[in-house]
Amino acid sequence: MSAKIITIAQHKGGAGKTTLTAQLAAAFDQAGFKVLMVDVDPQGSLTEWHKMRSQTLGRKNKITLFQTQGWKLVRELPRIQREFDFVFIDTPPHAESESSIAIRLSDLVLMPMQPSPLDVWACAPTIKIIMQEKKPLMLVMNRLPPKSKLNDTIKDKLSGMNIHLAKTSLGNRVSFASSMLQGLGVIEFEPRGHAAEEIKALLKEIKRHKELKK
Ligand SMILES: Nc1ncnc2c1ncn2[C@@H]1O[C@H](COP(=O)(O)OP(=O)(O)O)[C@@H](O)[C@H]1O
Ligand SMILES: [Mg+2]
Repeated sequence: MSAKIITIAQHKGGAGKTTLTAQLAAAFDQAGFKVLMVDVDPQGSLTEWHKMRSQTLGRKNKITLFQTQGWKLVRELPRIQREFDFVFIDTPPHAESESSIAIRLSDLVLMPMQPSPLDVWACAPTIKIIMQEKKPLMLVMNRLPPKSKLNDTIKDKLSGMNIHLAKTSLGNRVSFASSMLQGLGVIEFEPRGHAAEEIKALLKEIKRHKELKK
């Protein structure tokens, strides 16, 4: 059986794409799945995380990384995906053609978004591509501050746009960044922390997604 492909896309830089990709890859790995991460962002932050991971864990690192360009992915992914259960593709900001290619290849698109009106407006081009490609989208609120009126307003706005919002949101937590400095996910770095709880809940939600059960 070939892998389920999950692309993490959002045109806005700093939304949390690379963080979400690495954190989910570590969680799916720990849950016993064979995980491939694909870095199509020339900035290579995910690749750096993977290098750190290999230094920290040595041979215990089971996550595979593949760094490439979007247009090569079309030819290369079918060949390599068969060896994996899940493929997570991290995409660059402001690169419509690169992210369109990754979106086209995916079974599900995750879009991290921070709770501000500016971020809601900025996600329109990404949503347009996902709609054009007719791909299922799950929006994940990221860096959510403790309960605020703004969060509710933004959630209302998104439900008005008929967008599937994940039940799980990620809080604004230092461990999401500090775990990555060591090439780890919060699931390994602070397994009992709130951040790990959130990632575990998101993993369950993704696994249950109807598009991945086909
Ligand atoms: N939930 C979070 N809590 C705290 N810091 C976060 C969180 N998500 C992302 N960050 C930080 O925000 C910055 C941008 O995140 P990154 O994943 O690089 O975004 P992108 O890949 O979309 O450009 C990084 O410094 C990252 O550590
Ligand atoms: Mg990034």
